[in-house]
Amino acid sequence: MTTQPYDVVVFGATSFVGQILTRYLFEEFGLDGKLHWAAAGRSLTKLKKVRESLGKGASKLQLLQADAGDEASLRKLCQSARVIVSTVGPYALYGEPLVRVCAETGTDYCDLTGEVQWMRRMIHKYEKTAQASGARIVHNCGFDSIPSDLGVHHLQQQAKESFGQPCTTVKMRVRSMRGSFSGGTVASLLNVLKEVKANPALRKELADPYSICPRGSGKRVRQANVRFAEYDPDFNAWVAPFVMSAINTRVVHRTNALLHDAYGPEFRYDEAMMTGRGLRGRLAATATGAGLGAFMLASSIGTVRTLLAKYVLPSPGEGPSLEAQLKGGFDLRFHGRTQQGEVLRMRVTGDRDPGYGSTAKMLGQAAACLANDISKKNVAGGFWTPAAIFGDRIVERLQAHSGLTFELLDK
Ligand SMILES: NC(=O)c1ccc[n+]([C@@H]2O[C@H](COP(=O)([O-])OP(=O)(O)OC[C@H]3O[C@@H](n4cnc5c(N)ncnc54)[C@H](OP(=O)(O)O)[C@@H]3O)[C@@H](O)[C@H]2O)c1
Repeated sequence: MTTQPYDVVVFGATSFVGQILTRYLFEEFGLDGKLHWAAAGRSLTKLKKVRESLGKGASKLQLLQADAGDEASLRKLCQSARVIVSTVGPYALYGEPLVRVCAETGTDYCDLTGEVQWMRRMIHKYEKTAQASGARIVHNCGFDSIPSDLGVHHLQQQAKESFGQPCTTVKMRVRSMRGSFSGGTVASLLNVLKEVKANPALRKELADPYSICPRGSGKRVRQANVRFAEYDPDFNAWVAPFVMSAINTRVVHRTNALLHDAYGPEFRYDEAMMTGRGLRGRLAATATGAGLGAFMLASSIGTVRTLLAKYVLPSPGEGPSLEAQLKGGFDLRFHGRTQQGEVLRMRVTGDRDPGYGSTAKMLGQAAACLANDISKKNVAGGFWTPAAIFGDRIVERLQAHSGLTFELLDK
């Protein structure tokens, strides 16, 4: 075994999404040195099964054992890697020790969390430690929130080129999305609802669009939020609430704050789902809004949450079939307007189901980008967002290797 640290170690290679990520890294980078990587988890037996599933060519893939609750094993893991990419979730339950050890040891880290309340706690507890050690911590490197965060960043770059200024208002509308949830995602969502029940003050914190912005940063302006069915003239379509918007909008605002108001001090951003035109679109928007509201309400009741988790929703380790991943995809539309009324439109698409097939490719490229493109000399330690740390570098990688497109549209 080599004594050189690995460029990237996948922690949680046995998880539903970790297995897809491991296959992606194997197919994309192989094992001959393009990216020096290894797979880690708490069970060597399970890790060996994952390695076997990759075929004979993967027999040299190195496996490392570590437990999310065993600090000594996490320290050893950090000594062996420049970047740790973690899929061990729900992060609010298992993620903190690894973030702390990475922050203390200067090890770079990225993950797939969309648990805003947990990210906020991590930022407040460990940002100074990460700044001192040089560890770059990058949450949200999956469907939430790479397409939104990089989509807005890319649109703003184009706006500055075309109009000499950024758009003050940007909207993202989900035109189509084919895919479903895994047990790990469901467990993370149900855990947020459980935390809110135990600590009602969290509800207010989660409702704040600036909740993960650095303290004292920038101006706070009233943000739009699609809560019910409404007609959106910019898209000539009815729109309904989008379940991921409460995560993505927070990340986009943190990016703006970390980039010193690059999108302007009055920047407004919101997300929703397009449901079509006319009466059909209106009915679909009403049904989507009501369905989401009913699910959230039901899941906030402890016994209903337990029953849903036991009998209806996927369990940890379960998720969409390979066929469903391959048939999946997403198409997101962005509309930006400058203070002077100039308009830019953009589309971001992905070629696999958003939550797993596509997410694993985004996460793999985020880890490779952190290891190979973002030098410690140029970029300091701390808690970054994908767009603030990776910028155009990851857009190039995603377009070349992850099946994403970022495309300006005619008006
Ligand atoms: N942002 C996005 O777009 C996005 C998309 C998909 C998933 N996610 C998130 O990603 C996470 C993973 O989802 P998933 O469905 O893949 O989860 P999953 O299949 O339930 O897997 C959970 C993983 O955590 C590991 N684990 C649990 N306790 C551990 C411990 N003490 N030490 C080490 N490992 C431990 C499990 O190991 P064993 O196999 O040994 O049990 C397993 O590998 C979730 O938090 C989910 O919300 C986010």
